[in-house]
Amino acid sequence: MKSKVLFWVIVYIGILLVGLLSDWHIVGICKYILAIVGIFIASYAFALSSIAGRTLKRYAHQEPKSGFVPDRFTNFGIYSCMRHPMHLGIGLLPLGIALIFGNIAAIMASGWVLAAAFWFVLAIEEPETMALYKDSYIEYMQKVPAFTFSLKCIEKGLYALKQKELSQENSKVEVTGFEARYYDILMNLVTFGWYSKFIKKAIADIALSKDAKVADFGAGTGSNALLMHPYIGKDGEIVGYEIGKEMKEQFLENTKAYKNIILADKSILEPLNEEEKYDFVFISFVLHGFTRENREKIIQNAHKILKKGGAFVILDYNEFNVDKAPFIYRFGIRILECPLAEEFINTDIEEILEKEGFGDFSSKTYKKGHIRLLKAIKV
Ligand SMILES: C[S@@+](CC[C@H](N)C(=O)[O-])C[C@H]1O[C@@H](n2cnc3c(N)ncnc32)[C@H](O)[C@@H]1O
Repeated sequence: MKSKVLFWVIVYIGILLVGLLSDWHIVGICKYILAIVGIFIASYAFALSSIAGRTLKRYAHQEPKSGFVPDRFTNFGIYSCMRHPMHLGIGLLPLGIALIFGNIAAIMASGWVLAAAFWFVLAIEEPETMALYKDSYIEYMQKVPAFTFSLKCIEKGLYALKQKELSQENSKVEVTGFEARYYDILMNLVTFGWYSKFIKKAIADIALSKDAKVADFGAGTGSNALLMHPYIGKDGEIVGYEIGKEMKEQFLENTKAYKNIILADKSILEPLNEEEKYDFVFISFVLHGFTRENREKIIQNAHKILKKGGAFVILDYNEFNVDKAPFIYRFGIRILECPLAEEFINTDIEEILEKEGFGDFSSKTYKKGHIRLLKAIKV
């Protein structure tokens, strides 16, 4: 292992010296274009090596703390689509950096670093791994290429690292800190501005009745309550159930002008005391962040506090095949969201609602069917 590290230290010192000793630089507009290409290549190289390192750390050891050198074969995550992501990353990084600095000698010399990476894999790594894992490695070589530039492979690697137990501890539904303080702004930033228009439309589609009493489960900053307010008028009432410190503060500040928007500092997971009080229970992008067991508790609470004939309105991800969804949805669900979100997408929510005493379902979908406003009536 030490001699392998020494090999790469020598190669990297070599390219560094070439860069430092030469002041032959790219000039003009090309300098900027190549710098952008360099940033892309360097980020790609860094992502490859980092994902590969983290995958090996987690999946290529007999015991979780059995040292630095992997002692177990893995074809998981990024290794399911490329045999040598780490070496591709190490080989490409100097090219990216040389392009960023526009150093012509270093750009040319970085070709040798890539060649060194290929040689290292063919002459050192592959024979060693083959001797160690024999037939299973040969079979793996037949199926998986040594290198690929596919971005889907990076996505696979990231997703595998994100996979965790489907427990409430791994959920992100309790939004706190920076994310909570700037929640509304961040929602619009990550969705490139479509979120505020979309939520307005979805709330209009609930068809809230005048004077209605509405419970908003996981009410967040109060922005949804403000959007619902014009529909219910001054004789209706909106009660926001919220437990997040930063969210509660914003809810109170944002809704202080309205006497009939109230904050209930209560968890929707604890049995609620009210009975048959509300015409609507609204829950927006909250249910997917709970385990199946906790979702049932929330549905039972909604059932208890709704009047007969009242509507439980769930705005959340629809059921769809995440594998076949466009990249932007796969990225959102598998990388940004908590692992429970995909499990929610694969769940038949209507079946659970029916068991808990709801029926007469109606729904509207948005964003090419990936988001759904589901209305379930207490029967
Ligand atoms: C993803 S945010 C959605 C906020 C809001 N519904 C919206 O659509 O903008 C989830 C919210 O649920 C709240 N929450 C999480 N667990 C809760 C619980 N057990 N009881 C009440 N609120 C909860 C969080 O604090 C957070 O404000």
